[in-house]
Amino acid sequence: MQETAKLELNGIPYELPVVTGTENEKGVDISRLKAQTGYITLDSGYANTGSCVSSITYIDGDQGILRYRGYDIADLCEKSTFMEVCYLLIYGELPSAGDFVSFKDKVLYHSLIHEDMKSFFTAYPGHAHPMAILSAMVCSLSVYHPELLQPDQGAGEKDETMAHLLSKVRVLAAFAYKRSVGEAFVYTKPELDYISNFMHMMFTTPVKLHQTDEVIRKALDVLMILHADHEQNCSTSTVRMVGSSKANLFAAISAGICALWGPLHGGANQAVIEMLEQIAADGGNCKKFMDKAKDKNDPFRLMGFGHRVYKNYDPRAQIIKKYCDQVLHHLGIDDPILEIAKGLEELALTDPYFIERKLYPNVDFYSGILYRAMKIPTNMFTVMFALGRLPGWIAHWKEMIDEAGALKIARPRQIYTGEPLRAYTPINQRAA
Ligand code: ACO
Repeated sequence: MQETAKLELNGIPYELPVVTGTENEKGVDISRLKAQTGYITLDSGYANTGSCVSSITYIDGDQGILRYRGYDIADLCEKSTFMEVCYLLIYGELPSAGDFVSFKDKVLYHSLIHEDMKSFFTAYPGHAHPMAILSAMVCSLSVYHPELLQPDQGAGEKDETMAHLLSKVRVLAAFAYKRSVGEAFVYTKPELDYISNFMHMMFTTPVKLHQTDEVIRKALDVLMILHADHEQNCSTSTVRMVGSSKANLFAAISAGICALWGPLHGGANQAVIEMLEQIAADGGNCKKFMDKAKDKNDPFRLMGFGHRVYKNYDPRAQIIKKYCDQVLHHLGIDDPILEIAKGLEELALTDPYFIERKLYPNVDFYSGILYRAMKIPTNMFTVMFALGRLPGWIAHWKEMIDEAGALKIARPRQIYTGEPLRAYTPINQRAA
């Protein structure tokens, strides 16, 4: 029998259908509520609102579970690659050997950006934040591919658009970095895999060829897999929202990049390192900063802690921490920042404030330490996140656009609390 929820408004009972997910998650379907009752629901920050049904990613925040298309995140990190995960997220299944070769070839083929775009980079001031550059460049790609902007693309055109983005965002990210350090742009090499190519574009110079280090390549590949999707987070919801107006995919991804930039979302990885550096400069007194974070009169928050969905350890943080130790050991780096991070975590895990509020380290807490060890500058951390999250954004856009007839423009409602109707007063009659 169909499960229903009962709601009574002004003595009138209403029955609302209940939607059940694969893992028995329950949602009350209120899509007809306004039409039936005249009421809307109010849920600031959408903490209890499902904006869609989706078959891409499953999270159980209480159990610390994260799965892409049914595959456990730890399993994918150990056995798969970022490229394969891109395919899995976007197309729903792991690729056959033949399909995977075609996919990788297509992504590699589209790595060239229009030469004119190089002048855009040099027009930015040297101190420009690479997230600003990345977002602007991704939107600018639309100018060079007018054939890929139609709102009702066929499957082939969609594949092309997605491959352009998967390939070019990586190139644009590396070019943004090269611009910030004043070095010449470096192009992809056909014989390198996706991650090695990115490292090559970042770190090869005319006088030194970057050699792939397998331990670092694997760690970066895992970082990208861990970031690849996280269901309806702020940036993914932004991509869906912009895409729901049938704006093209370049525009939607560009908006997603901007949403990711904020320190409460992907920008937290940069904020974490800045916070750890601040603690180090202050003599390494973790307790002092813990106390600041708990003080309700102080806006300071412990960056890299807490999550809207995870009320248990973020499974991604656990995996990153392992790779962090491994890479630092491999490179022989003794980073005092890592010790501060571990000290902070230890304090937080036994502190009643953090225990009561279920605040655990999130994905961003250790990722910055890894990027730092890889010699990626702090202001590039969120760009790295964007690179990782790209397949998730694309997969969600595709899932939504493929709904075709069922696609609805995203348009939340509000409860108006401003002034009631007022008579207009001409300016010369207003009080000074
Ligand atoms: N430090 C100190 N206190 C915190 C923290 C923190 N990092 N995070 C939450 N709290 C406290 C809040 O003050 C609040 O306390 P109260 O109940 O006494 O008022 C309680 O915990 C609940 O916090 P909310 O802000 O209501 O939780 P929400 O789900 O809205 O926010 C968020 C989640 C934004 C991640 C928050 O935990 C935060 O600001 N963390 C720091 C930034 C961060 O690391 N962001 C990255 C998130 S992961 C990602 O996006 C990839």
